[in-house]
Amino acid sequence: MLIDGHGRTVNYLRVSVTERCNFRCQYCMPEKPFSWVPKENLLSFEELFLFMKVAIDEGVNKIRITGGEPLLREDLDTFIKMIHDYKPDIDLALTTNAYLLPQTAQRLKDAGLKRLNISLDSLKPAVAHNIAQKDVLEQVLKGIDKALEVGLGVKINMVPMKGINDDEILDIIAYCKERNIKVRFIEYMENSHANKTIEGMHGREILEKVKEKHTIRALGREGASPSFNYALDDGYEFGLIDPHKHDFCENCNRIRLTAEGHLIPCLYFDEAMSIADAVKKGDIKAASEVLATVLKDKPKENRWIEGELEEGQEVSNRAFYETGG
Ligand code: GTP
Ligand code: 5AD
Ligand code: SF4
Repeated sequence: MLIDGHGRTVNYLRVSVTERCNFRCQYCMPEKPFSWVPKENLLSFEELFLFMKVAIDEGVNKIRITGGEPLLREDLDTFIKMIHDYKPDIDLALTTNAYLLPQTAQRLKDAGLKRLNISLDSLKPAVAHNIAQKDVLEQVLKGIDKALEVGLGVKINMVPMKGINDDEILDIIAYCKERNIKVRFIEYMENSHANKTIEGMHGREILEKVKEKHTIRALGREGASPSFNYALDDGYEFGLIDPHKHDFCENCNRIRLTAEGHLIPCLYFDEAMSIADAVKKGDIKAASEVLATVLKDKPKENRWIEGELEEGQEVSNRAFYETGG
């Protein structure tokens, strides 16, 4: 079992396979970064997998592949299969913008992927275009349909933003309810890479919008998930991810690995240690030692705490497209 310095059990590893993305979401990567990580610095699937085996052997039983956009990494299904074949009962999931799903969903399913979390911020073509800075909606909706058709589990993530898509919260609920899939509304997390004009919605404001049409009942948190769940009158369940409250940090069960091998103990903090040398040498013991050190030093909570930021203060310098959100 992996236990961190605050006594929390860590069983969830998020692995980013690329920082590149085919979208330019306003809240994440509005502009192409000045430079990408050079290809030669990216760890191969074999190198990533060597570390993942160490983590799995020591107690990780939930793995999520992230990006950037993970489906941009060539032959991702072979990587999924490596993980699945090593431990078929692992909770193996992927977070994607769905753009490439129409042509990849079946292969991902066949390789052993169990579920997908998909970003869907608008059901209006022009608004989706404005957010992703590309005409994406038709393809994204096709991707969602395809994922459901091949039998992958699907959850939707929406980041509501004032004056942009805040009028679509009820429509997104209706869309998800119709397909019997869960939506989680995510509070916009301030970061220095996002479009500076974005104004996120507070969890409380998101719930107010839902209440314009529905009566809601609080259900609570699902284990260590950052999502707090609610049910509508008819039993349909949705979630709210509100990092500004940060009470889910108490039960945080996750660490993140980037495509170049930085092992990151917390989404917010800049601290990280590299496993690249260890895995390039095939040194399992060294990889395990880095893992132990990162766990020992894992911070107690993030810093998206209401009222603690000075006016105009940047809250996170590391890009979400690097850490995988
Ligand atoms: P499930 O296994 O389906 O619960 O997935 P997940 O919620 O862990 O994954 P997903 O990639 O869909 O992440 C949803 C949102 O939660 C993203 O915006 C993440 O950035 C945010 N999130 C996930 N983990 C953390 C965390 O440790 N801290 C903070 N602040 N946000 C997180
Ligand atoms: N604030 C909130 N959520 C974000 N995501 C990416 N950037 C941000 C941000 N600044 C979300 C995406 C994706 C998930 C992994 O992270 O919508 O669904
Ligand atoms: Fe790409 Fe996801 Fe970031 Fe959008 S939020 S730019 S889809 S990595």
